[in-house]
Amino acid sequence: MSLPPKPVPRAPRVSLWRHLRLFRADILSAQPARLYRAWMAEFRTPFFRSVLVNDPALLRCVLKERPRDFPKSDRIGAGLRPLLGASVFLTNGPLWAHQRRIIDPAFERGRLKDSFGAMRAAGDAAVTRLAPLAGGRAVEIEPFASHAAADVIFRTLFSIPIEHGTAQATYREFHAHQRSQPLLNLAAFVKGPGWMPRLHSRKTRATARRIRGLIAGLVAERAGRIEAGDAPRDLATRIMTTPDPETGARFSREEMVDQVAIFFLAGHETSASTLGWTLYLLATHPGIQERAAAEAKAFSGAFSELSKLKLIRDITRETLRLYPPVPMMVRETTRPERFRSRALGRGTQVVLSPWHLHRHERFWQDPDAFDPDRWSREETKESARRAFLPFSAGPRVCPGAGFAMAEAAVLLAALLSRYRFAPVEGDVPVPVAHLTVRSQAGIRLRVTERR
Ligand code: HEM
Repeated sequence: MSLPPKPVPRAPRVSLWRHLRLFRADILSAQPARLYRAWMAEFRTPFFRSVLVNDPALLRCVLKERPRDFPKSDRIGAGLRPLLGASVFLTNGPLWAHQRRIIDPAFERGRLKDSFGAMRAAGDAAVTRLAPLAGGRAVEIEPFASHAAADVIFRTLFSIPIEHGTAQATYREFHAHQRSQPLLNLAAFVKGPGWMPRLHSRKTRATARRIRGLIAGLVAERAGRIEAGDAPRDLATRIMTTPDPETGARFSREEMVDQVAIFFLAGHETSASTLGWTLYLLATHPGIQERAAAEAKAFSGAFSELSKLKLIRDITRETLRLYPPVPMMVRETTRPERFRSRALGRGTQVVLSPWHLHRHERFWQDPDAFDPDRWSREETKESARRAFLPFSAGPRVCPGAGFAMAEAAVLLAALLSRYRFAPVEGDVPVPVAHLTVRSQAGIRLRVTERR
């Protein structure tokens, strides 16, 4: 069985200029192969000093033990700020903690059931949308996955399908925004020269304004319905009516617009990336696909039966391991630190890389192979604990993690029980890091109805 695609690492030694160019083009192929074996690596350029950390003890320290000493740097989010304002993804300190106290209860495990019906409706809609394309021709899977994931977000947040006029317009504007915002790739996440993040084009600012205007309309309408007492019990209502348990304050409308923008961005790009890669991996591993289809067909569709989709859950985990939608995260030191006996000054960028960790040769057997069954083997428990971070960890862990795992299961179960996915010969996607890990030139698969 051939291995799933992996970017070709750069040569061990390249000039600084070449490194920066590679970096701007794609952060994954800009890295040398030794990062799949190293505990830590350092990059020094005239513009920034950064360390990439794969050592589990250091990851624990940064994410779980002393997260306050390693905030997100202001520059990291600079490229995203016109769109996201002061959303929870970008803030630090007391403001961030206040936002999480309001958001977290809406996403906690016990509330997942409330979003489940909307997820299933999005799954059914995705199946219907694929029907005209299921004649065996090559289908572009990424836009399809993106559409389905956006549908899940609109249905669970605002109880509207993607076909709703405002949802459609927001979705279209988001895609225009990404095209007009070249800094919306991972190069923007690593400190560059001071002028870099300020390069928002006029077009980028304009699309950000339009998106925020559309979201503001949805938020205002919802605020009216909450006041009138006839609001649906979805995520938006829950978040807008939950007071901060410590201060009693609720989100203002402006603050809610910031949060909705990040739910949409963080929640749909990531899930779309996962669905696209999962379908590709299943298409290229037909034996596993058939087993998953059998599991999907036996699924009753009830929320209480979700945990029976064991293979589908392990397939999703294995996809998140090989193609983590958020391939790297960056934090900044706020005081002198010593990492593995190396002294780091204040303001050093600390790069945490699920991408390298998940394929690290010291943690995983056959790290580049697609093997969902590894998740039921004893030896994987230790690797999963030390070297699996698709949703990050600690207090800044992704609030949507449980939501995303349920969503992936629901969408896959719906699609696999109706369709079979096969690769297009010679058409191998190359992973690159845009905002999330995507294929450089799309993912094409042949889709046919299962009889
Ligand atoms: C497969 C799907 C997903 C993956 C892999 C994923 C991954 C992540 C990761 C790695 C982070 C941490 C980023 C960092 O610290 O720099 C994060 C943060 C976040 N995610 Fe997710 N996510 C997914 C889906 C979702 C969904 C569905 C939602 C909401 C609807 C969501 C909302 C957020 C928010 C609001 C944050 C910021 C949290 C904070 O900084 O305190 N994500 N996500």
